[in-house]
Amino acid sequence: MRQDSSSASVSGSGPAAQGREFAWTSADFSRVQALIYKHAGISLHDGKHAMVYSRLSRRLRETGHESFDDYLSWLEKQGDAREWQEFVNALTTNLTAFFREQHHFDILAQHLKSKPAGTPWRVWCNAASTGEEPYSIVLTAQETLGANANFKLTASDIDSKVLATASNGIYRMENVKNLSQERLQRFFMRGKASNAGMVRVKPELRRMIDFLQVNLIRDDWPFKEPFDIVFCRNVMIYFDAPTQRKVLERIHRVMKPGGMLFVGHAENFTDSRDLFVLRGKTVYERI
Ligand SMILES: C[S@@+](CC[C@H](N)C(=O)[O-])C[C@H]1O[C@@H](n2cnc3c(N)ncnc32)[C@H](O)[C@@H]1O
Repeated sequence: MRQDSSSASVSGSGPAAQGREFAWTSADFSRVQALIYKHAGISLHDGKHAMVYSRLSRRLRETGHESFDDYLSWLEKQGDAREWQEFVNALTTNLTAFFREQHHFDILAQHLKSKPAGTPWRVWCNAASTGEEPYSIVLTAQETLGANANFKLTASDIDSKVLATASNGIYRMENVKNLSQERLQRFFMRGKASNAGMVRVKPELRRMIDFLQVNLIRDDWPFKEPFDIVFCRNVMIYFDAPTQRKVLERIHRVMKPGGMLFVGHAENFTDSRDLFVLRGKTVYERI
């Protein structure tokens, strides 16, 4: 029988009274908040109860736990790396799109054109989610610099599942509906038979990208060479101010002076002007 784990239930006193499969208490939510903050830096605000319940319920079912209290205690005690990864994957928000925030790609193209032909570019797209963003970046590089561009992109995320999708480079037609016919023909292959309705990124784009897992809040980034350009978009909004500052300091360390940092539309780092100066709408230059 599924149990009510505490008298501090969010509504009602048991799963049935709450209209839920599992009992869900404020104490459970606080535990999840602390764990995801520790592992991914994500600050879950109190309005996220329903989201957390629904995303983690699946983990309870898959691991055979009957209450959140059991599941969280088991997770903390047994320390299985695979389940920690599933826990993080379940709680990340992966919304993205091809050419999201179009103005960044116009600025990127101008910037690439501003240096002599043959200039090597090292670029990092972190929090790359399911890949639409990194493919938009390399597509822009090919259009601007040509097929033999000396352009290498590292694309990373904390979430292993979205990284696998990104690495496969297969999307529904619906995801690419805003791309021009010219871009679709040049950079994508259309699926046939059982793959009808899908497209696959062509190998010439795919091989410009190295996909790897990087947790922005950990101090173990594997980079040896500094980057000319970094995309860090729509992830810092999930972090609190001290975490954002630490991540910015680390990004600063892995970039060349004069390098460009692209951030999300709701992100503002003008307080960190000792590291980055604003050069355009949500575009910064590394000092
Ligand atoms: C809303 S998506 C943004 C995707 C893309 N950058 C864009 O702007 O379209 C946020 C991404 O940040 C990733 N993320 C969250 N916490 C992270 C962390 N600590 N380290 C690296 N990536 C993280 C999530 O897995 C998710 O894919």
